[in-house]
Amino acid sequence: MNEVIKAVDLTKIYNKRDKKKRGEISVNLNQVLNGVSLEVYHGDFISIMGKSGCGKTTLLKILGGIEEATTGRAIVGDINLSSCSDEILSDVRQKIVGFVFQEFYLVDSLTLKENILLPLYISNKPYREIESLILENAKRFEIEKILDKYPTEVSGGEKQRTAICRAIINEPKIILADEPTGNLDSINSEIVIKYFERLNLEENRTILMVTHDPTIASYSKKVLLMKDGAIVKQIEKENGEDKKNFIQRIVEIMDY
Ligand SMILES: Nc1ncnc2c1ncn2[C@@H]1O[C@H](COP(=O)(O)OP(=O)(O)OP(=O)(O)O)[C@@H](O)[C@H]1O
Ligand SMILES: [Mg+2]
Repeated sequence: MNEVIKAVDLTKIYNKRDKKKRGEISVNLNQVLNGVSLEVYHGDFISIMGKSGCGKTTLLKILGGIEEATTGRAIVGDINLSSCSDEILSDVRQKIVGFVFQEFYLVDSLTLKENILLPLYISNKPYREIESLILENAKRFEIEKILDKYPTEVSGGEKQRTAICRAIINEPKIILADEPTGNLDSINSEIVIKYFERLNLEENRTILMVTHDPTIASYSKKVLLMKDGAIVKQIEKENGEDKKNFIQRIVEIMDY
């Protein structure tokens, strides 16, 4: 099997600058990742779980080339993100990885359609093809009727689904999704997670997804539990195991 992501002993330390105390700036070091090692193979569908603040988003951002690790190595495809040029890093972000952000990051001055179109500006696809690609994906996420609206005019769930469309429109090999159903009701969550499941099963796309929801996590094949900046447990769905049983096992490790 091919490794598509390999993380070796990643650490991340943020500097927290506090207000001047008696004329001094106090700098507190906040160690958010404490040596995370991880191997993701082509066709994996992995959920990352763990309490708020344990470092899930930070890990995903490092693997997506958005944040830099303090120490350790993050390798995506055959590119070492810790030592490659900015140009290659931006190639990774645009062509290899599709990132669904927890905070969406849609551009408010652009319509939903233009937001989805952004990653395609660098592609050589003819516009007609791009249009049908957008429509096909928008239909999948039931936002085809609001494509001409601006992000400020739509709901949180609609923004979320637009952000997912934008992340997958380039057909990236790897999808990194930070709580992709975090703002969706149960019906829309199911649409999204079933679509992810299909992308994984039918198109063999590799998916690494953060979620707090055991039901959502049960669609993936493997669950990693993070605690205090480290991966402390991992479980895999057994062959033929039904989702209910897997949910039960996920809930059990969440108490760890
Ligand atoms: N840019 C930053 N500067 C300083 N500290 C940060 C920064 N980003 C995150 N942190 C801190 O790092 C820790 C981990 O944050 P992270 O966003 O990775 O958590 P998380 O597991 O994704 O949490 P949640 O489930 O709430 O999204 C938190 O204590 C957070 O305050
Ligand atoms: Mg987060």
